[in-house]
Amino acid sequence: MDKKIYFFDTTLRDGEQSPGCSMNKREKLLLAKQLERLGADVIEAGFAAASEGDFESIREIAGEIKNSTVAVLARTVKSDIDKAYEAVKDAKKPRIHTFIATSDIHMKYKLKMTPEEVVKRAEEMVKYASSLVPEVEFSAEDATRSSTDFLAEIFDKVILAGAKIINIPDTVGYMTPDKFYEFIMEVREKSKYLDTVTISVHCHNDLGLGVANTLAALKAGARQFECTINGIGERAGNAALEELAMILKTRKDVYDFESNIVTEEISKTSNLLSSITGVYVQPNKAIVGANAFAHESGIHQHGMLSNPETYEIMTPESIGLKETKMVLGKHSGRHAFRDKIKSLGFDLKEEEVNEAFEKFKELADQKKTIYDSDIEVILTRGINGEDD
Ligand code: KIV
Ligand code: ZN
Repeated sequence: MDKKIYFFDTTLRDGEQSPGCSMNKREKLLLAKQLERLGADVIEAGFAAASEGDFESIREIAGEIKNSTVAVLARTVKSDIDKAYEAVKDAKKPRIHTFIATSDIHMKYKLKMTPEEVVKRAEEMVKYASSLVPEVEFSAEDATRSSTDFLAEIFDKVILAGAKIINIPDTVGYMTPDKFYEFIMEVREKSKYLDTVTISVHCHNDLGLGVANTLAALKAGARQFECTINGIGERAGNAALEELAMILKTRKDVYDFESNIVTEEISKTSNLLSSITGVYVQPNKAIVGANAFAHESGIHQHGMLSNPETYEIMTPESIGLKETKMVLGKHSGRHAFRDKIKSLGFDLKEEEVNEAFEKFKELADQKKTIYDSDIEVILTRGINGEDD
């Protein structure tokens, strides 16, 4: 099976749907260009029919982005697809991504359509979109609460109508990794044509399993996944791009795939998104949290100073950070303290180091964060004896 994995970034569409994360046209273009530098294979630029602002942003992104495919979302509604086409037609690599719900609950209460009507609509609209652009993606919204028989039927119809990518979204984040693996294998078995196109997944994080479910889907044959920077998105968000990229890089022994992601651009992309939206990631967030490469405890700091591999499975440089952060706090030891004072330019005798270390420990008991300036005060006052 093909080893190439396609990263479909939907920060500008699903990500923007998270509260507090809306972006203006200029900000979206800035982020799209950074996503292109990051190596995203597909950038979902927005939902053209949602607003005039969204439409204009997509048009601008479509005109500027050259290396990534630019996708635009549309319901399986002719006016949505026309709008999507107008927005994306100037892109070097355009894609229309059209969707309709396939679970009983969505068809009955939201769409108020019968399953037969849903299949007919999907087939007609995929055929129509395929007459406009070379690449059409079809999503079965709420796929993971849909019957696998029904999915196999609708997928076969839309593939014959021209869909090149079939997306299986876990819209409400209901799946678990084992179940998702079995689910995809079952749909593949029941469908005649699914294996002739690219299988994609789109995992929401309601149970905190977005990334784990995406990995299970890769094992089940998916070759595209949809994800967002910092994991933003509806409700609890989407699978986080940076986590997936670093899992594939760090555990190539488990996930032997190839991707275009330039991981050294991860930190920059995450920071750019946070500064645009004002929504910052929690400090202990994997890969991009402020503490992801910080070490405070004395034992860890000692280990790190002897050999970084003692406590780091990936280097900060691999995500574009300059270096590991040694955060001095009450758990830090003499070893790290000595290293820090050296880096601040102080060349002290052993007894001076010991004296300053005692003062530092006293301060660390009272203060959560010890800044370099705190240490400089301890060192200068201590050396000059002004505090005695
Ligand atoms: O969560 C979802 O089902 C979606 C689709 C539109 C792909 O965002
Ligand atoms: Zn979604």
